[in-house]
Amino acid sequence: MAGRRKLIVVSNRGPVVHERDASGERVARRGGGGLVTALRSLVEEHDVTWIASAMSAEDKVVAEEAAGEAIPETARNGAPYRLRFVVHDPSEYDWYYNVVANPMLWFIQHYLWGLVSEPDVDQGLHHAWSEGYVPVNRSFADAVVAELEREPEAAVFFHDYHLYVAPRLVRERVPDAVLAHFVHVPWSMPEYWRVLPDPIRRAVHEGLLANDVVSFHTRRWRRNFLRSCEDVLDVEIDWPSHSVHGDGRSVAVRARPISVDPAEFDEIAASPAVEAEEASLAAKRPEHLVLRVDRTDPSKNVVRGFRAYEIYLDAHPEMHGRVQMLALLDPSRQDIPEYAEYLGAIQRAARTVNDRFQREGWVPLDLQIQDNFPQAVAAYKQFDVLLVNAIFDGMNLVAKEAPLVNTRAGVLVLSENAGAHEELGEWALTVNPFDVAGQAQAIHAALTMAEDERRRRLDAIVGHVREHDIGGWIEDQLADLDEARARLGAPA
Ligand code: G6P
Repeated sequence: MAGRRKLIVVSNRGPVVHERDASGERVARRGGGGLVTALRSLVEEHDVTWIASAMSAEDKVVAEEAAGEAIPETARNGAPYRLRFVVHDPSEYDWYYNVVANPMLWFIQHYLWGLVSEPDVDQGLHHAWSEGYVPVNRSFADAVVAELEREPEAAVFFHDYHLYVAPRLVRERVPDAVLAHFVHVPWSMPEYWRVLPDPIRRAVHEGLLANDVVSFHTRRWRRNFLRSCEDVLDVEIDWPSHSVHGDGRSVAVRARPISVDPAEFDEIAASPAVEAEEASLAAKRPEHLVLRVDRTDPSKNVVRGFRAYEIYLDAHPEMHGRVQMLALLDPSRQDIPEYAEYLGAIQRAARTVNDRFQREGWVPLDLQIQDNFPQAVAAYKQFDVLLVNAIFDGMNLVAKEAPLVNTRAGVLVLSENAGAHEELGEWALTVNPFDVAGQAQAIHAALTMAEDERRRRLDAIVGHVREHDIGGWIEDQLADLDEARARLGAPA
């Protein structure tokens, strides 16, 4: 692999959020989400400028002080990188994030619309698209173009469904730029994209095809994307090479499964914070622990998971008092009504299980709604069964992280619609996320599986994740960029 690269990373959420502490001092807190962790080695080893939305009031002050320019930041290993905040008008940002990106695009890409009565594509959506999503993408594109003027050799890495329109806006102004886009969520089948009016679904696809490389976590999402380009834009697909041809350009579409840093998890698992959490969990844990760790997102299918556990308890009275489901859920996107309602549904479903089965000294389902990473890692070490039953999921990193540090030959019960299933399915117990009876049976099968079989499966998962780690994911993408440059005849 070539040495240091000049890269411009573009994502809605950035690597740090600035705040004021109690004494009024400015403090920089690490931004939420797995993307920051995933891209850490890029920032540490290459010349990176990261462009992200100003999230907090203090981020906006930082951006103003920098007069819109990038500010110097320091990576974990001490390496310098640059961070450029894009400040958005609050209404535009609300339409972009709370109306278009989530729920509309997120719900389309995870098949969460039922279609009988929702969504209504009304004036509100059209307005949020043209007055929110597009202007916010334009602001991102302006920032990218400004950075490319400063550093014309840099390659641009867009991330996710917030930024589908930006690449085209950049391409129009910098035709020779090298642009790549990673879509971290599933790509749904072409017909489902017809929820969106033609001009909007075309803009989504044309925006993505303005890149030189578009990547997904799985071959399945890639296949859907290629089909959907064919259907929505009527472009020519070269299936053997997974590329799209049109406008005199070709776009390489790649399947590059994201992963984690195993060494980091080894270190976190042995940290005092995790050990303290683990001691308190171990002191109260039942004989058998069924774990789930998720954001409170409708795509995660928490309510059906609770229902499956209820069916399991119904069928197995001998396990009453001996098993517990621990649900560690991180509250997510609560400004969006669909998410707030789903959190209510989660709480009601947990209550139903506990009302039916609880008895003196036994809580069948322990629901904890908070963001507590050390607690989650402690539970990763302690689970006997890990339930990942997502309706659809781009990858699902919990399915990779938790087995890495597990100490009890725990069994992974995994949705066939989680991206992780393409890699880990053969060693997991596969479930259909809608089949609650099947999930109940899988919980039973996992809890009664012989120890050597459990160990064999867990070791295989751990071996796979250690071999296909985050470093490999980054290298593959840099190689994809090299290939794109070679195609374009641009210098590396
Ligand atoms: C999940 C998805 C990512 C997405 C992120 C946005 O982690 O897997 O693809 O970028 O959510 O979350 P946010 O909290 O910023 O809405």
